[in-house]
Amino acid sequence: MLIDTYGRVATDLRVSLTDRCNLRCTYCMPEEGLSWLAKPDLLTDDEIVRLVRIAVTDLGVTEVRFTGGEPLLRPGLTGIVARCAELEPRPQLSLTTNGIGLARTAAALRDAGLDRVNVSLDTLRPEVFKTLTRRDRHQDVLDGMAAARAAGLTPVKVNSVLMPGLNQDEAPDLLAWAIEQDYELRFIEQMPLDAQHGWKRDGMITADDILASLRTRFALTPETAGERGSAPAERWAVDGGPHTVGVIGSVTRPFCRACDRTRLTADGQVRTCLFATEETDLRAALRGTASDAEIAEIWRKAMWGKKAGSGLDDPDFLQPERPMSAIGG
Ligand SMILES: C[S@@+](CC[C@H](N)C(=O)[O-])C[C@H]1O[C@@H](n2cnc3c(N)ncnc32)[C@H](O)[C@@H]1O
Repeated sequence: MLIDTYGRVATDLRVSLTDRCNLRCTYCMPEEGLSWLAKPDLLTDDEIVRLVRIAVTDLGVTEVRFTGGEPLLRPGLTGIVARCAELEPRPQLSLTTNGIGLARTAAALRDAGLDRVNVSLDTLRPEVFKTLTRRDRHQDVLDGMAAARAAGLTPVKVNSVLMPGLNQDEAPDLLAWAIEQDYELRFIEQMPLDAQHGWKRDGMITADDILASLRTRFALTPETAGERGSAPAERWAVDGGPHTVGVIGSVTRPFCRACDRTRLTADGQVRTCLFATEETDLRAALRGTASDAEIAEIWRKAMWGKKAGSGLDDPDFLQPERPMSAIGG
């Protein structure tokens, strides 16, 4: 079990498969990209599957989400999913993706054992997409989502970040569209995890702003207390249901007390939190002579030291050295 000193138990593993991405979202990385991890530093497919197996069979992990960077850029993705789907007990397997290439791969990923996808899309306007992501791929994302829905990778969840002056007025349109498409929409507050360190607290669109904007067009009823569990998104029924909308207030409504996550970077470092400033190296142990039991023990010790909160509200808050794309969002 991955338990920490506050009694939280991590059962949800986020695995970054690559730090590379084919978009350049302004809130994530600079136009020129970043200096990517060198291939020998990346975990191999076998190493990833071994770590997921240890997490699932020895450490009580029940859900595995592949992310990045852009996980669809990882050549071995389908094989990794297939091997993880054979683990006992079988974990829930999902993918967080920008959707580019999903139109081609959704059916194969489902056949390999993928259960669900979260696709990131911040705007319904192709020209705003181009400004926000610095790439002209809006239609590819829409096609990827439709393919995921057709393949039964449902519910297809859509993650949206609102940015001032770009798409901040789009919340109601995004929700109307998501309902029509039968996607489950969640807004994520912009976090200080961009490589350029451009985030400003007073420049971000908050959960309250998003809810106020949605309420101009929809009646929102909060889920009853307790239903949120360890889910980061607070959810509201829209116009009496059955459709819902989620808001992940990572900055203004943090959910650290119920956090059930552990994270693995593409180069084999355990992170206890997106905002952790320390990491624990599993790659060296993997590439040495460590047994599964020894690796599990290193992972357990790392999680035991998980901090109470993200530290975002501390006056001496320090943005982690790695940006979101290199941690795995
Ligand atoms: C880092 S991406 C990785 C997976 C995949 N490439 C994708 O687009 O979903 C995961 C999520 O993090 C979000 N994200 C990236 N930088 C962020 C930031 N500074 N604040 C909030 N969300 C961010 C993205 O919008 C996306 O929904």
